Amino acid sequence: TMADHLRKYETIFTLTPQRMRMITEAFKEALELGLQKPGQIVPMIPTFVFGWPTGQEKGEYLALDLGGTNLRVCLVSVQGDGKFEIAQSKYRLTEEQKQEDGQKLFDFCAECLKTFIDQNLTESDSPLHLKPGEKLPLGFTFSYPCAQDRIDHGVLIRWTKGFGAPNMEGHDVAEIFRKSLEKYDVPVVLSALINDTTGTLIASHYVNPKTKIAVIFGTGCNAAYMEHVSNIEKIKSLNIDSSTDMAINCEWGAFDSFEHEHLPRTKYDITVDEDSNKPKEQAFEKLISGRYLGEILRLVLCELIDEAVLFLGQNTYKIEVPYAFDTAFLSLMESDPTDELLMIIGIFSHFFALETTLAERQFFRALAKLIGRRAARLSACGIAAIVDKMGYLETEEPCLVGADGSLYNKYPGFADRIHEGLVDIFGEKGRRIVTHHAEDGSGVGSAIIAAMTKARRDAGL
Ligand code: BG6
Ligand code: GLC
Repeated sequence: TMADHLRKYETIFTLTPQRMRMITEAFKEALELGLQKPGQIVPMIPTFVFGWPTGQEKGEYLALDLGGTNLRVCLVSVQGDGKFEIAQSKYRLTEEQKQEDGQKLFDFCAECLKTFIDQNLTESDSPLHLKPGEKLPLGFTFSYPCAQDRIDHGVLIRWTKGFGAPNMEGHDVAEIFRKSLEKYDVPVVLSALINDTTGTLIASHYVNPKTKIAVIFGTGCNAAYMEHVSNIEKIKSLNIDSSTDMAINCEWGAFDSFEHEHLPRTKYDITVDEDSNKPKEQAFEKLISGRYLGEILRLVLCELIDEAVLFLGQNTYKIEVPYAFDTAFLSLMESDPTDELLMIIGIFSHFFALETTLAERQFFRALAKLIGRRAARLSACGIAAIVDKMGYLETEEPCLVGADGSLYNKYPGFADRIHEGLVDIFGEKGRRIVTHHAEDGSGVGSAIIAAMTKARRDAGL
């Protein structure tokens, strides 16, 4: 019966508290290694964002956010006292754009930016009227691992989240983007290149100074936090004042890549990995992020089709297409409020032309729950590793974690499951770690970082 099948999947997708604590320990070691030496599996990238914002930053900034799914152009007005206003346009990236030449992808970004400026900033009644020849500072949120040795440049270490545009890896993406900006004569100066987690960290702290960590759970998954420069062994030679702090973009999605020693990977996870454009890489991210969860579930369904357990006598070709099962379907299945599971009927009949029985639908929902819960509990291990490493639970203070991304914002119960996981790892004191939705991290964060950068330059630093 379906219930017997479910028990098998329960065993392989469930993480015990003990296993979670082991993963957390290994994670902590990986974070420390990343700070010591360059080029480690978890790269722990110094961002050259120095310390927290004061909360009194002010000014008008443009932000461009190239995430995993959308391109956004934002005009941010930072007003001090934790306040800001934002106006934005959003564009969806096509699969082709993710694979075409990097310069072409950036040309598209420059064009969108130009259109936004023409529409919003050149009218004399616009909030910010650009005078001829004037240029606005631009913060570029580019959410892929980039090695930086200053704030306004960054060498792409590797594409993640399914991107594959050639001629980008190993190159300075800021330089490539400046070429596109010149080509389209866009009146901006690229002043900061940042990661979405770094932006979220700074924006969350600007709004709530108790924030210690930022996490993104979306198409990809990653975290940033503020580190003491004296702990970043690998940048000792730069002679940066050792009493300062610097934000670290962990790029934790890479945890356990290549050797696969710590994470409980199922055969479905291994297939996802091997069939991806980057086998062996982003091992942690592939068990957690929105790009992959639907595919993991789909692979289980395909196995049961092969074993003649599901959809006997029906034509299953639609569900056999890789990545046909969107992670949004898992959210919908988990949140179906009806006894008959009508939403699940709808998903299977409408998108895959398949009829389902109630017992099957209950099974699908339970399976979604297993996969979604495992993702959240693994996420808790990553957060716990940073918290433990930094000693954030050593005081009675709450430890706030700013969080963003489609999975965090839309998947029912994702945050609650993270919190449960944290209590499984730390016991009662784990309740002091609280995640909350960060209002527009990359847009606002990049604007505040641009303001912080300007203040440092004005101060001659
Ligand atoms: C958005 C942030 O809300 O979430 C982006 O503003 C971030 O900076 C994104 O990259 C991540 O979510 P997703 O689902 O778009 O990958
Ligand atoms: C991927 C990227 C990382 C980003 C994360 C969330 O892991 O490598 O830079 O922060 O996705 O968008």
